[in-house]
Amino acid sequence: MLAFIEITTSPDFAMLSNIHRRCFGQGWSAQAFEELFAGRAAWAFIAEGAAGLAVCRILSEEAEIITLGVLPNCRQSGIGSRLVEAMLEEARQQGVRKMFLEVGEHNAVAKALYDKHGFSVLSQRRHYYRHPDGSYEDAIVMQKTLD
Ligand SMILES: CC(C)(COP(=O)(O)OP(=O)(O)OC[C@H]1O[C@@H](n2cnc3c(N)ncnc32)[C@H](O)[C@@H]1OP(=O)(O)O)[C@@H](O)C(=O)NCCC(=O)NCCS
Repeated sequence: MLAFIEITTSPDFAMLSNIHRRCFGQGWSAQAFEELFAGRAAWAFIAEGAAGLAVCRILSEEAEIITLGVLPNCRQSGIGSRLVEAMLEEARQQGVRKMFLEVGEHNAVAKALYDKHGFSVLSQRRHYYRHPDGSYEDAIVMQKTLD
């Protein structure tokens, strides 16, 4: 299992965009990542070998997972868990009390990952995601209270 996670507030936006596109098919542009980080309080977590990434915002006592993905050929080897653990660890160190995220209601794999790490369902946002085919998907908002 790849264990090393690089944590940075000034990532290579082109690299993030490349990983994101490979994880999600239709990913965010380098410019979109640049704008995300220009808003400050954003932290990137990059798995060794650029096998996956996560971005979270840490604002005082609250944090939010903005995105999380692992390359298709690197999945089911613990990298997603390591990325979640790294975000939780960084957030704890910064005094965060609650961490939030949104996940598609049909994304059973991601929901299982978050369940495993102690997140629970807080609410549902109707038609939050719009897919390329024009269909909509609700988002589940999950939260975890940190020790
Ligand atoms: C969700 C994702 C990040 C998981 O990454 P991963 O590296 O495969 O996850 P891990 O190997 O660390 O697995 C951790 C847990 O996730 C769940 N999980 C992972 N793959 C699974 C699968 N195919 N089916 C069911 N549960 C699965 C399990 O609970 C697993 O724990 P276990 O190994 O003890 O059973 C990855 O599948 C991915 O990038 N998906 C596409 C992008 C995405 O949906 N991102 C989330 C957006 S909110």
